[in-house]
Amino acid sequence: MLLKETTFIFFAVFISITFASIKSPEETIKDESKKLLNNFVNKYLEKFEGKIAEAETYLKEYSSSSSKSDDKNDDDKFTDIFKHFNLQSLSIKSMKKVMEGLKESISVIDEEKTLETFKEEITKLKKAVTKIAKFLTDFNEDGLKESFEKILKLFDEHKSDIELFENVLENPEKIPKQSILAETTSSSNSIVATKKYMIGFKCGEGEYSLIACEKGEELPFKRTVQIPRTPLEYFTGYSGGENDTEIIGRNLVKLPEEAFAYEITLEVDTENILNHNVKKILLDNSRFAKDLEKMVPSKSPVIGFMGELSFIYINNAKKEDGYKPLKSWNGNLGKELYISFDEKKPKFFEKAIESFKLNCNSVVHNILEAMSINSDAIPTFKSIGYNLTAASESNNEEVLFEYNNFDGTKKSESPSSLMTLLLKEHLKAIKEEIGEKPKEISLFIFDNFKDEEKKRVLKGLEAACQTLKLKCNFVESD
Ligand SMILES: *[C@@H]1O[C@H](CO)[C@@H](O)[C@H](O)[C@H]1NC(C)=O
Ligand SMILES: *[C@@H]1O[C@H](CO)[C@@H](O)[C@H](O)[C@H]1NC(C)=O
Repeated sequence: MLLKETTFIFFAVFISITFASIKSPEETIKDESKKLLNNFVNKYLEKFEGKIAEAETYLKEYSSSSSKSDDKNDDDKFTDIFKHFNLQSLSIKSMKKVMEGLKESISVIDEEKTLETFKEEITKLKKAVTKIAKFLTDFNEDGLKESFEKILKLFDEHKSDIELFENVLENPEKIPKQSILAETTSSSNSIVATKKYMIGFKCGEGEYSLIACEKGEELPFKRTVQIPRTPLEYFTGYSGGENDTEIIGRNLVKLPEEAFAYEITLEVDTENILNHNVKKILLDNSRFAKDLEKMVPSKSPVIGFMGELSFIYINNAKKEDGYKPLKSWNGNLGKELYISFDEKKPKFFEKAIESFKLNCNSVVHNILEAMSINSDAIPTFKSIGYNLTAASESNNEEVLFEYNNFDGTKKSESPSSLMTLLLKEHLKAIKEEIGEKPKEISLFIFDNFKDEEKKRVLKGLEAACQTLKLKCNFVESD
């Protein structure tokens, strides 16, 4: 999932849109309101994340200093409370994902549904906040005052921010244009970017933008995008040259290898200074392997999917030490699900990635996500190295991959038949470890798909298993 940035953010939710070739003054005003609302939502989502991160840091400092008391009860309480921090982050991520999706859409994506998503997530957010607030108040009464003041204050602000956010979403016609949005609307004396600033990446000969702060855009600017572990080279840069159209001042962005995904942030402050930040997203895969013991009573080999990665877990009956991430499958870190068709014999995983990096062509990846969408979502699907096209009515699939084959022809292939190729490789690795082809395997999906998306993914995986005459069980976490 490589993201291309569009320069204009389009917020289609909550306000009905008319398509007319010439805009009436009312429509121009509507457009302006959309931009305001869009700005407002993005700013507040960033604000929520900031507050949560800050509060969590304070609480972590506190919990590690107080854990000397050896009170098991307190430990459990903290674990529970950090879980609620995590729940908040998940809700915000989900809302951000909706916003990202809207960015590139020109048509009206189901407005009602988007509003529903937001409402659901806000309800979850508030629940977690209430839980944490209660915990903090109880603790406060235990006489541990001072260190909690800061967190309590943060949470009070957080709560009123959420209230305001909810209010504006419920009553978009009542956007408080002056007071609250003063800082987000453009006015003649606001500070704007004097250049274009960006985080981009190289693929083959091409360069693409991941996050961009456009010249003239209001400062301060801050945007965070989550990307899966990637073999590509990322850099920061800004516009320059004769007409301010070249990207100059490139600096490599270091992406740590031991991660499953990254959260990359571009910030430009009011002094026009660019900053970036990379956060690793990790998974305790050894621990997950342990959890599988309860989840998979059959002890069959398990394949886990996360973004563009897969992991294999094997429960070797002879060793009697439970599920373990398969070492030959890159252990805890897993393998990238890429296939390259630039040579007669398809290349997989790290070998496919090598040619992807070099020529950015004849490669397919992000297969699970392609499985999850219906053909309406093709225009907003970000693909690099291949394209997605709508499958014909008679086809049992929604979308097809279209890629350049080694012989110069274009080929179309369904996500599930590409998945068949990938699964075959997984089976080979499993056979090598356990000495025989497994009769059945279990599949686990780490990604949070919506219900209808998940249905499509399961259907696609099911089809791939059938082609291989393989019994596949889907493991659900509880
Ligand atoms: C800058 O703009 C001028 C006028 O439009 C054009 O002639 C020139 O080629 C441009 N230079 C670059 C480097 O794009
Ligand atoms: C993908 O679509 C773009 C734009 O239509 C086209 O230039 C490119 O050649 C296509 N790539 C493949 C692999 O079909």
